[in-house]
Amino acid sequence: MFEIAPSILSADFSKLAEEIRAVEAGGASVLHVDVMDGHFVPNITIGLPVVKSLRKITSLTIDTHLMIDEPGRYAVQFVEAGADMVSVHVEADQHLQRTLTAIREAGALAGIAINPATPLVMLEEALADADFVLIMSVNPGFGGQKFIPAALDKVRRLKRTIEDRSLNVKIEIDGGIGTENIGEVVEAGAEIIVAGSAVYGSEDPAASVRSLIESGTVWV
Ligand code: DX5
Ligand code: ZN
Repeated sequence: MFEIAPSILSADFSKLAEEIRAVEAGGASVLHVDVMDGHFVPNITIGLPVVKSLRKITSLTIDTHLMIDEPGRYAVQFVEAGADMVSVHVEADQHLQRTLTAIREAGALAGIAINPATPLVMLEEALADADFVLIMSVNPGFGGQKFIPAALDKVRRLKRTIEDRSLNVKIEIDGGIGTENIGEVVEAGAEIIVAGSAVYGSEDPAASVRSLIESGTVWV
């Protein structure tokens, strides 16, 4: 099975609670929150106070994707603010094992996010310390970009490694996913599917979540 994680990056921030109600009604189970610092990626978004406020209005799993330098300085604060899942980029953290352990000890699921050009071998040693891996299928920074097809094979290879090593690690995928390609990413082995513009770029986010679930289901 797979879960849909709408990314609020493409939502209307002036009515965030309403936007979240919509995806809850559509059957989403995870809420993907993109945190950007203007250094690791060329964009600035939202941070701790917003996560704190979201925690009060939703029981969805809050998944914070930290696209920030030195994520180890902030990761635990995101758990304290209410995040259930926290991912940090392998490219941004010199002490990844320490950060993953700290996230787990704070009570959340720890994830490693990996950019399109970063090889999977970079995850090898830290994989056992993670609960999930977030494979980027676009270069992080903006919503609405085109899916990079090489991500599919990356998902497949990671899936194989996880199985070979009998690890309990989920695969999340993020960027450029819609009804036209969700089937392929699910078939490749992704279990948490992030969708920003495919959900919030539409007139009816609830219906868009439903059609994503429907389009992915035939492939499971
Ligand atoms: C990109 C973010 C994504 C983004 C996805 O840097 O990490 O979560 O919101 O948006 P879409 O689904 O439009 O590619
Ligand atoms: Zn993201």
